[in-house]
Amino acid sequence: MKRIAVLTSGGDAPGMNAAIRAVVRTSIERGWEVFGVEHGYRGLLNGEFVPLNRRDVGGIMQLGGTILGSARCPEFKTDEGRRKAVRELNRRGVEALVVIGGNGSQAGAQALYQLGFPVVGVASTIDNDLAGSDITLGVDTALNIALEAIDRLKVTASSHERAFLVEVMGRNCGYLALMAGLAGGAEAICVPEFETSPEAVAEAIATAYERGKPHALIVVAEGARYNATRLAEYFREHNEELGFQLRVTILGHVQRGGTPGAFDRLLGTRFGAYAVEQIAADNYGVLVGQIKGEIVATPYDQVIGQPKPLDPRLLELANVLAK
Ligand code: ADP
Ligand code: F6P
Repeated sequence: MKRIAVLTSGGDAPGMNAAIRAVVRTSIERGWEVFGVEHGYRGLLNGEFVPLNRRDVGGIMQLGGTILGSARCPEFKTDEGRRKAVRELNRRGVEALVVIGGNGSQAGAQALYQLGFPVVGVASTIDNDLAGSDITLGVDTALNIALEAIDRLKVTASSHERAFLVEVMGRNCGYLALMAGLAGGAEAICVPEFETSPEAVAEAIATAYERGKPHALIVVAEGARYNATRLAEYFREHNEELGFQLRVTILGHVQRGGTPGAFDRLLGTRFGAYAVEQIAADNYGVLVGQIKGEIVATPYDQVIGQPKPLDPRLLELANVLAK
């Protein structure tokens, strides 16, 4: 019998609960014992371990967020902090840890693995900024929330002949913005990977106006150099060139707190089960993700610090379709 632990860390993502449920139930099916660590790495350092049985993870799949809680934990970034975490795990006889989280969380998991502790990661963040998974857990739900907001904004924008600037999350990654812009029919998309100038955005809005469009939509990634705040500042100073009145909406955490859709429930379920299979196979220091439709486990050294480029053709397509 093995004793394993599971935690969620960093920004919560819709689908994390499905992953926890799958980790717990597939482990118990193997006759293992499972502990949940509350509040991510902070809970690991503070010894916040709770036993999890089948019933403890009942009725959670449809819930956003994470039943284990999450946190950002600066102490875990120190060598001393991580050694303390290993001591806590060893003290409880935990033989392997599943870390469900994003880029930073997986960097932390790799550091733990480098200290000799058996770790398996699950790629989970709405930012989609983790190499090792074409799509990470939570992205699909976050994207649908952004799209619902965009669709609504387009309705009111058309009624008033306005331009709307919508800022979406993603930290330094423009994936959410690019996909929301493409699927939402944006006139302009600003992402950190392919920076554009405020003049080019103004031009896109003005030409949309000239072509008789009743609205213009600009989707901006929070990590873009010209994010919503800076673009709004520019437009305040150059108002007369636009044609449309401009309104700004920053979607913020609304994107993170949604009910996980079918895609993320299934992805979380498959990721969680696959993470347990890796433990059974003693395959550690890997990140579970989805590549070309397959669930795979990629060694951390091929994932952490690796770029996750955006496809420039999608931005070009969005620009063509906006005409
Ligand atoms: P996410 O996992 O969603 O990207 P963060 O970047 O905030 O979120 O990372 C979550 C936690 O992971 C951090 O609070 C910290 O405890 C840990 N972490 C982040 N980066 C590192 C790192 N380079 N080394 C060790 N731990 C890290
Ligand atoms: O990593 C997920 C994310 O939502 C990013 O998109 C965003 O930049 C960040 O977390 C916000 O962090 P916090 O929830 O700590 O404000």
